[in-house]
Amino acid sequence: MALTAPLPAAHSDRIASAVRVGLTTHPRSLPPWLFYDEAGSHLFEQITQLPEYYLTRTERSIFAAHATAIVTQAAGGERLRVAELGAGSADKTRLLLGAVAALQTSVLYEPVDVSATALDHAAQRIAQEMPSVTVAPRVMDYTHRFALNTLPPGERWLVLYIGSSIGNFEPDAALRLLTQVRAALRPGDTLLLGVDRVKDSATLLAAYDDAAGVTAAFNRNLLVRLNRELDADFHPETFAHRAVWNATASRIEMHLESRVAQPVHIRALDLTLYLAAGERIHTENSYKYQPGQAEALLTHAGFHPESIWTDPNAWLTVLLGRVV
Ligand code: AVJ
Repeated sequence: MALTAPLPAAHSDRIASAVRVGLTTHPRSLPPWLFYDEAGSHLFEQITQLPEYYLTRTERSIFAAHATAIVTQAAGGERLRVAELGAGSADKTRLLLGAVAALQTSVLYEPVDVSATALDHAAQRIAQEMPSVTVAPRVMDYTHRFALNTLPPGERWLVLYIGSSIGNFEPDAALRLLTQVRAALRPGDTLLLGVDRVKDSATLLAAYDDAAGVTAAFNRNLLVRLNRELDADFHPETFAHRAVWNATASRIEMHLESRVAQPVHIRALDLTLYLAAGERIHTENSYKYQPGQAEALLTHAGFHPESIWTDPNAWLTVLLGRVV
């Protein structure tokens, strides 16, 4: 049903203009938020279970070990209300919500996402499995504007931005986003930020180019999506999946590389592209943070970096920033 239901006009306009701009600018690119149609969200779920994709497993291990310490620190003796940017990481979120519920018997949880479907799934799972959690999903594009309810005295917001989602943002956009979150908060409120760290390039590259080819399928699914939603005629199998470690920019890049010279028609945009053999479409950046960098980002956005948790390999870090 979701596949054939017409898309809301504003949504399809956003896709159309992003694709037109990205594919007619050189070097060509597509924005990573396009990955997450129904098939793409399912492929991402599979990625999180791959042996090479250390991110999800490692962050979960940090929460499994430190959830009580994290939420106790955030609460500072007051009651917490929990908001989350993005609804995709509900599985890890449960560990944190469980720790909050243990502190204060019940918790109100407000996941915020552009996708009502993603919110529904997350809300249903949590409502079923955690009776002490009341879920109040909010459909909102937090990259454009972000607001939270003012809380009664004695309550504080804990905003979760985990799963290394910040990694998709260019440094200036990441700063803008966190500054916007800061503006929605009041003294005493906190932000829990999960970032992936720079590590040996073999580990990084394997995580974005797995042996089973799931990440390659995730990348090519963009083209499948454009074929369906914009009446394009990409032949996804003629594009190679490329993952590149760009050490200068401190990011993993994903590209789709045309194996042959070929025209592509995107009928809904009345657009024809001529791709050269070896030409790449840049589909994602995933920034990796150096020690101290995430703390600096929090500070610039107006948070006091109060605590930091990591795993035994220091592959990932989770930081608590407070509004003071
Ligand atoms: C969802 C942005 C955290 O950058 O690791 C996974 C997306 N891309 N494999 C990441 C992704 C390729 C993921 N984030």
